[in-house]
Amino acid sequence: MSYSNSAKYASGHSSSETHTDEVFERLQEINYIGVTSKNLCRRADGHGKSFRESLDRTIEVLAVKLAGKDITYIELGPEPVKTYLIVSSLKKIARSIRYVGIDINASSRVSMQRHIGGVVGESNFYYLIGDYFNINFSDVQSEVGFSLEGSTVILTSLGSQEGNEHPEFIHSVYRRLTRPDDLIISELQLLKTLNHFPVFEFSHLPLWRSVSESFRSRLFGEKSSEYGTVLVPLVFDKVGVVQCAVSTERFFEPLPNGADVLISNFCLKYTSAQLAAIRHVNGFDIVFSVKTGDEAVVFQLITPGTDVKQ
Ligand SMILES: C[S@@+](CC[C@H](N)C(=O)[O-])C[C@H]1O[C@@H](n2cnc3c(N)ncnc32)[C@H](O)[C@@H]1O
Repeated sequence: MSYSNSAKYASGHSSSETHTDEVFERLQEINYIGVTSKNLCRRADGHGKSFRESLDRTIEVLAVKLAGKDITYIELGPEPVKTYLIVSSLKKIARSIRYVGIDINASSRVSMQRHIGGVVGESNFYYLIGDYFNINFSDVQSEVGFSLEGSTVILTSLGSQEGNEHPEFIHSVYRRLTRPDDLIISELQLLKTLNHFPVFEFSHLPLWRSVSESFRSRLFGEKSSEYGTVLVPLVFDKVGVVQCAVSTERFFEPLPNGADVLISNFCLKYTSAQLAAIRHVNGFDIVFSVKTGDEAVVFQLITPGTDVKQ
């Protein structure tokens, strides 16, 4: 059995609030480890950039591009740890900065307000609870209460967020929420040729396993299950075979409907070449790209090209 992101992450009724709080907190803890570990994602011989250094390099490039501008920072699926680092750096160089979070999980709002509202100022902090597939530029403008003409939009898609979505669909979200001079920050886990270990290593982090367990217990209570991860090949037009990391909970006793496996997460893991093809096919230009030393994570700045591919 498989469930959409909205079923897994969305809040809305009181019985789900503990679950959605818990998922948000676990994701926050994973990010905290990411930015505080000195050597995470360096090459095995200690060379190359760590995860934190790759993020810092991306922020430096962004800061040069955005110095003196009015920025509207729109975050898809907000998290406070990396966002705090990015927004506080941009605040120093921008003429002005306002923050707009978009999340299907209402549990994130209070924490984001505390961490990011404190940086940008309460009057520059806005939040939309809803599905980003249903939100467009005019919804954001209505939320902030004025036109975004003259303001540069920085849209973020961090934490392998786009790996959870069909590439065409997520690029259509990017296109709806940006204009040609705006930028999107993307962070993705890549699939290394001849070494799939980093994908399995991440999937088996105790914190990530607890996110999977949390989805299972939200949907099926305390039914005992065994966690697992497999790579499933999927074929995409003009890109070829892309591996999808699928996390599963296999029930020891089948459910009354006979089902015995819950797909608790799936995330596309592109190779570097496939990611370049995905950007091209969807009409986006890569402005900047940095990989961690172990080539397991990439940060990119991309922009919607003027050559719109439908
Ligand atoms: C994989 S997590 C990434 C979280 C965060 N960006 C990070 O860097 O850790 C996906 C996040 O996106 C949110 N989300 C998933 N699908 C969504 C949708 N369709 N609309 C709005 N938010 C969504 C979830 O609530 C969750 O916080």
